[in-house]
Amino acid sequence: MESIKIFAPATVANVTCGFDVIGFAVDNPGDEVMVKLVNKPSVKINKIVGDKGRLPLDPSKNTVGIPIINFLEHIGSDQGCEITLYKKMPLGSGLGSSASSAVAGVFAINELMGNPLKREELLPFAMEGERLACGSAHADNVGPSLYGGFVLIRSYDPLDVIKLPTPENLYCTIIHPHIEVETKDARNILRKQLLLKDAIIQWGNVAGLVSGLYTSDYDLIGRSMQDVIVEPTRAILIPGFYAVKNSALQAGAIGAGISGSGPSIFALSKDEKTARRAGENMQVIFSGLAIGSEVYISKVNPLGPLIMD
Ligand code: HSE
Repeated sequence: MESIKIFAPATVANVTCGFDVIGFAVDNPGDEVMVKLVNKPSVKINKIVGDKGRLPLDPSKNTVGIPIINFLEHIGSDQGCEITLYKKMPLGSGLGSSASSAVAGVFAINELMGNPLKREELLPFAMEGERLACGSAHADNVGPSLYGGFVLIRSYDPLDVIKLPTPENLYCTIIHPHIEVETKDARNILRKQLLLKDAIIQWGNVAGLVSGLYTSDYDLIGRSMQDVIVEPTRAILIPGFYAVKNSALQAGAIGAGISGSGPSIFALSKDEKTARRAGENMQVIFSGLAIGSEVYISKVNPLGPLIMD
């Protein structure tokens, strides 16, 4: 095999209460990466499509390049390759854009080299792509993009990643308002110290969310989707956040919150019709604020990366 094209799904990190420890993958959108082996020892990014020229072509500075460079070094190979990155989602959107690129890249090179590493061994390489993108190697985007479904990062040191079950009828609505929030900025504004009373609410909700996923208890999932630590601070970066969130709940969504570091907002619903109605309601609020947006409706993606050709 000389070349391969991989799709890796976008992700909703945090899922409200699970800052940096819970995320899930969606079917749509996602990034695509084509990797071609060449008879030269260097890793090169040939082209990036869809980034409006904003991402670096230097592979050591690019979230798709660095996981591939580190991977080849790790397996002791001087194999070279050429990369084409197709950005299929907006930058700075809260959809795990950099994570999808990193996952697609490292998954592609592992396939081309004959799968010397197991899927879970690819995670630290993708996490380094994330570190490059925003200064923090969190895994709640790369984890679900790589594994599919819901993923829990039980521990970062040592890394302990648990795949969680997905209830059958769960639908996700994501609205991406046309404003940009850099993950680095959205992390820098967070308080570094917490009140014990807030921590108690938060870990109760994390446990409730995980329990609800295991038992397909939609009401428990919904009432656990409450974030008293991160959301109150980050909401100020998203005009109309609470009105948008409430409009999704009024449409019948079981819960809603900021997708990753924002500005996208997501909602979970028990059926597709409600998910669509939530999307329409949310879009009306942003339109009223003269903010354009697009809506993605999707089931939870169970698979992670997909070989396209
Ligand atoms: N957990 C990360 C954060 C996800 O909220 O900063 C970034 O998309």
